[in-house]
Amino acid sequence: MTYVLITGASAGIGEVFARTLAAQKQNLILVARREDRLVTLAAELSEQHDVKVEVLAADLATADGTEKVSSTVAASGWKLNGLINNAGFGDRGAFTELSLERQLSMIQVNVTSLVSLTWRLIPNLQESTGAFIINVASTAAFQAGPKMAIYYATKAFVLSLSEALHEELKDAGVAVSALCPGATESEFAAEAHMTDTRLFKAGTMPAEAVVRKALARRRTAIVIPGLRNLLMVWSGKFSPRLITRRLAGWLQA
Ligand SMILES: NC(=O)c1ccc[n+]([C@@H]2O[C@H](COP(=O)([O-])OP(=O)(O)OC[C@H]3O[C@@H](n4cnc5c(N)ncnc54)[C@H](OP(=O)(O)O)[C@@H]3O)[C@@H](O)[C@H]2O)c1
Repeated sequence: MTYVLITGASAGIGEVFARTLAAQKQNLILVARREDRLVTLAAELSEQHDVKVEVLAADLATADGTEKVSSTVAASGWKLNGLINNAGFGDRGAFTELSLERQLSMIQVNVTSLVSLTWRLIPNLQESTGAFIINVASTAAFQAGPKMAIYYATKAFVLSLSEALHEELKDAGVAVSALCPGATESEFAAEAHMTDTRLFKAGTMPAEAVVRKALARRRTAIVIPGLRNLLMVWSGKFSPRLITRRLAGWLQA
């Protein structure tokens, strides 16, 4: 019996990953802080789809919480065939105005815990044939983001790391993919104080469409769901960095 471990499974994109994979008869380990939500979701999915769904409540903003996830997986003898590093959050505001604590916590969740879980769980994944890792980055990964400086920087890190690991691990039995969604329906915008931005007012993609694309292309190094997002990323490739970073700042106003 093998499991896919999903971080940030209590809401948004992570919850949709859980629902979609359970419907495909995949056993799951759900990670997030809100244990009540995970327990309800696990009961629903195991009942509906006859799969095993484990709940692992942990705060990935702490080193202890992150360590708890990998040590519980090891102690329980759970074999993984997939890891979806999805937990993350952003916040809108100037670097000097957002609290240092919140921004360091963002780095811890979006970057440090992702690195730690990936490093610790790769040996486990390598025991399964066809194992995969999906790291949830963002279209924010492709340029700097004034007024969301740390968030954009964390996603650039996730994209760069994932591309490198895609190459390093492709002959070692683990496919690594960076998923780069644009504005998506979830709790993210409210948490990031972004609901009134030009970016979110221009429309969002359903999380179901994002997840469908991510799973179908899980062996591809970079996955950008949605034509609008793809065009934005590609046009950015041919524009001066001055333009792309100012455009990102404008979209967040
Ligand atoms: N929605 C978008 O527009 C968008 C666009 C591009 C990329 N993304 C990325 O997509 C990923 C998923 O976000 P979403 O849109 O689905 O947002 P969401 O609905 O707010 O879900 C975020 C998930 O991350 C978990 N999480 C946050 N802090 C955590 C912590 N300290 N410890 C453990 N889990 C934590 C939350 O669970 P708890 O609160 O229960 O802990 C929740 O399950 C993120 O990495 C985000 O950066 C989102």
